[in-house]
Amino acid sequence: TTEQNVLFTIFGGTGDLAKRKLYPSLYRLYKKGFLKEHFAVIGTARREWTNDYYREIVKETLTDLIISEEDATEFANHFYYQSHNVNDAEHYVNLKVLAEKLDDHYQINGNRLFYLAMSPNFFGTITQQLDQQGLVTDNGFNRLIIEKPFGHDYESAAILNEQLREVFDESQIFRIDHYLGKEMVQNISTVRFANTMIESMWNNRYIDNIQITLSESLGVEERGGYYDKSGALRDMVQNHILQIVSLLAMEPPARLKDKDIRNEKIKALRAVRLYKPEEVKDYFVRAQYGIGSTESGLLNNYRNEMNVAEDSQTETFVAGKVLIDTFRWKGVPFYIRTGKRMGEKGTQINVVFKNVPLNLFSEDVEEELPPNVLSIFIQPTEGFSLQLNTKKAGIGLETDTFNLKHKHSAETVANSPEAYEKLIFDCLNGDATNFTHWDEVASSWKFVDVIRQAWDQDQSELPSYQSGSMGPAESDDLLAKDGFNWHWNPALPNDEI
Ligand code: BG6
Repeated sequence: TTEQNVLFTIFGGTGDLAKRKLYPSLYRLYKKGFLKEHFAVIGTARREWTNDYYREIVKETLTDLIISEEDATEFANHFYYQSHNVNDAEHYVNLKVLAEKLDDHYQINGNRLFYLAMSPNFFGTITQQLDQQGLVTDNGFNRLIIEKPFGHDYESAAILNEQLREVFDESQIFRIDHYLGKEMVQNISTVRFANTMIESMWNNRYIDNIQITLSESLGVEERGGYYDKSGALRDMVQNHILQIVSLLAMEPPARLKDKDIRNEKIKALRAVRLYKPEEVKDYFVRAQYGIGSTESGLLNNYRNEMNVAEDSQTETFVAGKVLIDTFRWKGVPFYIRTGKRMGEKGTQINVVFKNVPLNLFSEDVEEELPPNVLSIFIQPTEGFSLQLNTKKAGIGLETDTFNLKHKHSAETVANSPEAYEKLIFDCLNGDATNFTHWDEVASSWKFVDVIRQAWDQDQSELPSYQSGSMGPAESDDLLAKDGFNWHWNPALPNDEI
């Protein structure tokens, strides 16, 4: 382990993300020796906090991880708080003074990482001020980590990007998509490129369709204000789902360097077919959750959630068909779906292979055998399964299916800080592989914008789906009309190896 010298400045230091993800992740990096003596953290936000209070809060966020109290205190002593109004130039001057002092004290040598864990409305102002008030150094690295959403359509994303690019160049900007920090999302490349059996079949000659499901059991909870303006398409499809699509669809990179991978992902995303507005209804369905019930009682329908408009037309579920116009993928639909308040929390990729040409095990040789399916379990369990056909034991030649299974690791907590830990580590090393390049963001928005616009013009009532279900009937119909159905596997059991 090599220690990293770095000064973090976290905008939004009192916020939920900082507390839930960032501080625990920094602590893990500290425990592993990647952060040691030569690092400091400036937390900044509007609230008036003292350093002592801030350090207590930081320590509280570590509770599950703390091994010894002294150790946690030593870690927290690297944290400094500066109350800050992002619009006030004077405050950046104060930040600069503090930054220089800490740089000196901890002998950091000018490496700066700015983490914007707050509303994107302020990204432009903050980066401009960082530059104008001289917080960007010229003796070390300067890197910017930003959280989603990156714009709400192509146009706003492009404006935001221009603002950032006035100060930071593309190689200094690390756009977070926390799905790219997930172990099994990172494993997609390994599964594909380290296995002859899989890579040789990874194309339209052998694959029938690919299905990606990101289902959530929770509703919008306290985030109605944000979510009602966003909806599932912007919240999950533009970023997480299209990122997964690009990793599944990209060509093998020449090397596993960040530039090589990014180039391939960009090429894949550029090849995603853009629909015409009038075609959208044939390829995408949306819906909103209705009421439901659990053991603990009745669940609200979406329109009755806090901070959601009574007549909201916002979709909480999306299913769609993505087509990639390349030699490799022509004719292979990528079906995607995501939603709130679905049956269970889980992310799964199912790669459905084509059938053997004839069924020799049936009177009717045209009768379809169950397909081979490679399932990649992203969360909550991590692993794979491969569905194959075998002979049913006994007399005769009847077939049966069975699954080869591999469980990747112990059950991980959904959306666990490990993803952030890996991403921050990568950023410290200047490795942008698991961050989204502007060209990826741009292509994704262009794809999503057409769908959004078509939906915004369509005033018909949204279909609803029962809370706790896997979505509306329209989602099943989308596949049925192509002769397919959704695959969904129960999570890998704990004792499976
Ligand atoms: C976020 C979305 O990007 O991802 C949330 O804004 C969603 O609405 C979350 O709940 C899902 O992340 P995970 O890691 O829990 O699957």
